[in-house]
This record gives sequence, structure tokens and C-alpha cells, in this order.
Amino acid sequence: MHDPIPVLTIDGPSGAGKGTAARAVAARLGWNFLDSGAIYRALAVAAMDRGVSCEDEIALEALAHSLDLVFEATAVPRALLWGADIGDRIVTEECGNLASKLAAFPLVRRALLDKQRGFRRPPGLVADGRDMGTVVFPDALYKVFLTASAEVRAHRRYKQLKEKGIDVSLANLTEEIEERDRRDRERATAPLRAADGAIVIDSSALSVEEAIQACLAVVGSF
Ligand code: C5P
Repeated sequence: MHDPIPVLTIDGPSGAGKGTAARAVAARLGWNFLDSGAIYRALAVAAMDRGVSCEDEIALEALAHSLDLVFEATAVPRALLWGADIGDRIVTEECGNLASKLAAFPLVRRALLDKQRGFRRPPGLVADGRDMGTVVFPDALYKVFLTASAEVRAHRRYKQLKEKGIDVSLANLTEEIEERDRRDRERATAPLRAADGAIVIDSSALSVEEAIQACLAVVGSF
């Protein structure tokens, strides 16, 4: 019998530094990378473009099944939706908030399971999201729950968006982050929580490099 392909799941709330850390950890291990949030965000973009209501679970489920989404592993990663580059539309707060609404529907989550599991290819996978260790890859060998205080997370997100030239107010952002967290934690299907056995890392006082090292330490690689 073959050993299963190793998976490191990195779950946690928005702004905990998961995206940056998970991508870097995958690159250093030479493993594949899954940004599951980008799949929910791409679905939100598709719903906006095709006029599908964010209340219509059945239509969203069909859209999720038909989603033709490819991530190009270029220096600045590109997401192609039905062959078209969706560029920065995927990173806006509007898109993140809509994604979190769609993500609360069980049929939508189920429709996206196979797509996510398809990223598990040799030699390994680093999977970033909310339910990677609890639902999508429950048998993952390594599990991390990366978190940080809400205040630190709002500041980080603020800086990130500013750098991208996107104008936001810190107060609005903090409110939106808290609301999104609440929705992700309180939803009935796949709520945000640390998987059993996950190593909890609080990145509030850690630099990016320290957070990367802490994740690498979980897979026994320094
Ligand atoms: O991680 P990111 O902020 O890009 O995710 C956007 C939204 O997608 C999250 O707020 C969450 O509601 C949803 N999501 C999810 N499960 C995942 C990844 C993201 O529900 N595995």
C-alpha cells in the first residue's frame, strides 16, 4: 500500500497571515498549494458576472459545479475564470464578504469539495482555508490553526489593501472583519474552528518569517 500524499492544513480567520505563510511554506517544501478562499472568491465573482443571487443556494450550487477555474503558478498568481484573468477583483473586501455569504451554503461547499481535493498531488500539499483540517482533508498528517487578535488582523489587512492601491477605512475594515469572522464561526456547515490535533499558532507578535518557521516546524522541516 502507498503512503498517502502528505498534507499540511493551515486554517484560521482572515488576516492571520495564513495566505503569505502558507504560500511560502509550500514553496520551501516544494509542495503544491491550495488557496481555498480564492475558490470561494472566484465563485463570488462568477455569481456577480452571471447575475446569480447570493441568496439562491440551488443556482449557486450549479454555478459551483460548472466553475472553470485555473490558478496559474506565476510570480504574481493569476486566477483564470472561464479562461479570463479576474485580476484584482478577487482580492477586494466586497468579494471576500460575498464569498463568506456563499460559503455558508452546505450545497455550495459540497459542490466545491472535489475541486479542492484535486489539489492533493505528489509530493505534497499545503492547504490554506477555514475547514481544510476539519472537512476537506481530515486525514491530513499535519494541521495548523493560525490565528491573531482581531486588531492585529485588521491592521495587516489594511496595510495589504493600501499597498495594492485599494482605499479602505481601518474602522470599516475592523467591523467587516469581525462580521465575516462571526459568520464563518457561527455557520452550521464547516464552521471555522481548530481541527482536533491542530497545532495552534498565534501570529499576533510574530514576524512573517517567524510564522513561516513555526509552520515548517510542524512538518519537522526547519
Ligand atoms: O481566505 P479568504 O479571506 O480568501 O476567504 C474568503 C471567504 O471564503 C472566507 O471569509 C470564508 O467565508 C470562505 N472560505 C470558507 N472556507 C474555506 C476558505 C474560505 O468558507 N476553506
